[in-house]
Parts: sequence; structure tokens; C-alpha cells
Amino acid sequence: MTATTIPTIELNDGASIPQLGFGVFQIPPPETARATEAALEAGYRHIDTAEMYGNERGVGEAVRASGLDRDEVYITSKLNNGFHEPDAARREFDRTLAALGMDHVDLFLIHWPLPMHYGGDFVSTWKTLEEFKADGRARSIGVSNFEIAHLERILAESDTVPAVNQIEAHPYLLNDRVRTFGESHGIATEAWSPIAKGQVMDDPVIAAIADELGRTPAQVTLRWHVQRGSIVFPKSTTPARIEENMHIFDFELSADQMAQIDGLDQGEAGRTGPHPDTMSWIPS
Ligand SMILES: NC(=O)c1ccc[n+]([C@@H]2O[C@H](COP(=O)([O-])OP(=O)(O)OC[C@H]3O[C@@H](n4cnc5c(N)ncnc54)[C@H](OP(=O)(O)O)[C@@H]3O)[C@@H](O)[C@H]2O)c1
Repeated sequence: MTATTIPTIELNDGASIPQLGFGVFQIPPPETARATEAALEAGYRHIDTAEMYGNERGVGEAVRASGLDRDEVYITSKLNNGFHEPDAARREFDRTLAALGMDHVDLFLIHWPLPMHYGGDFVSTWKTLEEFKADGRARSIGVSNFEIAHLERILAESDTVPAVNQIEAHPYLLNDRVRTFGESHGIATEAWSPIAKGQVMDDPVIAAIADELGRTPAQVTLRWHVQRGSIVFPKSTTPARIEENMHIFDFELSADQMAQIDGLDQGEAGRTGPHPDTMSWIPS
């Protein structure tokens, strides 16, 4: 166990979330427990999973195997795209808790807004998540991949401001309009694919900063997110990288180094995943 202390961010509902976590997207279900155990062993106390990843069970197994108390680990999961209608969302949330083997999650998100499905009605889905918060089975609720127009509808048509918006963000897609809009309404930003799925490793600007500081490009990029106030959860199944990605709280980037990384933004050309306005995939 390392001595690294991971800072927390206070959410708009008063809950605290560790600013660094471990993401398990694309970790095959049979490998998830082992990778998550390695992360917990290294000192991570925040795991980001989703029903769509098919690996919630492995996350739950790892938490139980770690010997940590449930309350020592922050768990996020997300509603699968096929289940936005309220009754389906209720049933799938039960399934998420059963797969995790837990009586609550710390944070539950609508994974994608899917404005072309369900008559564009993600507000009813959001109101169903409000039920999970009210009954205590989701300590906090939020959204993922919501654009400004989607957030505006939630703010206008419901009583709960999302605690977070989990969006694609990294040096090639700053996504600052969405980030700034959310933060101006008290919505914390979670940056997914924070190291652009590994692409930052080959970036000459980031490599030069890493050399100056005696750090790796992944550490520099994760540190840049932290200094922007975002929450991050890099994914790795490589034990040395799992360890490396944690060590970002004992150095700082200067204003000039931050600006150099900001300058790598490519806008839409830098996006690695689908655009939320057109993402329509529903797993079969
Ligand atoms: N809400 C959403 O729609 C959404 C979408 C995508 C992702 N996410 C969340 O965000 C998390 C992270 O995103 P991501 O998995 O797409 O991408 P990422 O964390 O930016 O990158 C992961 C990739 O980088 C490699 N890597 C990790 N640490 C490294 C290091 N120190 N040096 C070199 N390479 C390194 C990993 O390889 P190895 O594993 O081989 O080490 C893997 O190929 C996901 O796991 C998930 O929790 C959410």
C-alpha cells in the first residue's frame, strides 16, 4: 500500500468523491476482479464501471476480496442505453446492485442521453434516478455525455442538479464549453479517456514537459486534469501503469506548462468516441 493521499472533491449534494479513480471500460469480465484488486492494492479508492461494460460483478468481487470496508471504496455505475424507460431503469438498477453484490452505489449515471431514442425523453429517466437517490441506494446521481442543451433541459425540468457530468476530455478534446457550463451550475466534470486512450504517450509537447519534470506523459496529463479541477479514472490492466498513474499529487505543472497542454486542443477533430448528439447504440 502506498502513502499517496488522493484529494477529494465535494459534490453539489455534499458528498465527497476521490479525484482520482480507476476505470474498467474494456477490461474483459474475467480479468476485472484481478485488475481492480491491483488498483485497490495500489491505493485507489474509487472505481468507475457501468452495466454496459459487463464487469460490475468483478468490481464487487475485488472490493470484497480487498478486505476494505464498503464505505472505504467509492463505486460508480451507469444505466445501460437500452433501459431508459422508468420501469426498465428501475429493474436494471436492481441488476447493477445485484451484480456488484452491494446495497448501494456512491454514484449512478445516465450513460448517454440518446436524444434520438425514447422520444428524446431523458428527463423521465433522470426523474427515475432521483428515486434511487431518495431511497439511498444511489448516494449521488449524475449524467454522462450530456451536451449543454441536454443539461439545460434537466436543469429546467427537474428538481435535482446532476452531481457530475462524465464527458470525453483530454488534451486533444478539451470540451471546455460543456465543462464550463456544467461547472457554472455546480456540476463537477469527470473526464473520460483522460489520456486519450494512450495517445498522449506519443505527444512531443507532453513528452518535453514530462522530461522537464522527470515524470511520464501519462502522469503529466493526469496532473493537468487535476489542476483543471476534473475527476479522472485512467484504465490500465498493467500493474506498473496502475501504480504510475496514481503518483500525480506530489508535483505541479506551471501556468505555462498548463497553457502548452491546453494548446493541444483539436476540438471535434480530437474526439476519440462518438458524439453525444448522434450516439444511438443500444447493446443487443
Ligand atoms: N462515460 C463514458 O461514455 C465513458 C467512455 C469511455 C471511458 N469511460 C471511463 O473512462 C475510463 C478511462 O477511459 P479509457 O479506458 O477509454 O481510456 P484512458 O484511460 O484514457 O486510456 C486507457 C489506455 O491507456 C493505456 N494506459 C493506461 N495508463 C498508461 C500509462 N501510464 N502509460 C501508457 N499507457 C497507459 C491503457 O493500456 P493498458 O491497459 O494496456 O495498460 C489503455 O490502452 C474508462 O475505463 C471508463 O471508466 C467512460
